[in-house]
Amino acid sequence: MADEASDFTLGKKLFSSAIPPCGICHTLKDAESEGAVGPILDELKPNQLRVITALNNGLGAMPSFKDKFSAEEIKAIALYVSKASGAK
Ligand code: HEC
Repeated sequence: MADEASDFTLGKKLFSSAIPPCGICHTLKDAESEGAVGPILDELKPNQLRVITALNNGLGAMPSFKDKFSAEEIKAIALYVSKASGAK
């Protein structure tokens, strides 16, 4: 089990290396991404569960990432997005 700091670092890396990368569709300041297809994550501030659900199931124009990442990797991305966007 990874600790929170290493999950954050892993999640940040995966945010940019996902195929397709999250940043082509989403703006997230911490990741220096400016995509405008999906919601601005800095404004949405999704909690981890919301990110996990979107990644597993896909949502509208957003593809599912369930087959591309392990459950651990999805958790790391969710931790990263919620922390980096300032979710409570
Ligand atoms: C091809 C464009 C695209 C990519 C790539 C993409 N998204 Fe999305 N994402 C969207 C769109 C469009 C929505 C809004 C869907 C809707 O509400 O109909 C969305 C919604 C979301 C939401 C909000 C879910 C909710 O409950 O409202 C989160 C969180 C999210 N994306 C995170 C990510 C992460 C993390 C990645 C990378 C692993 C990613 N997205 C990759 C287009 C994309």
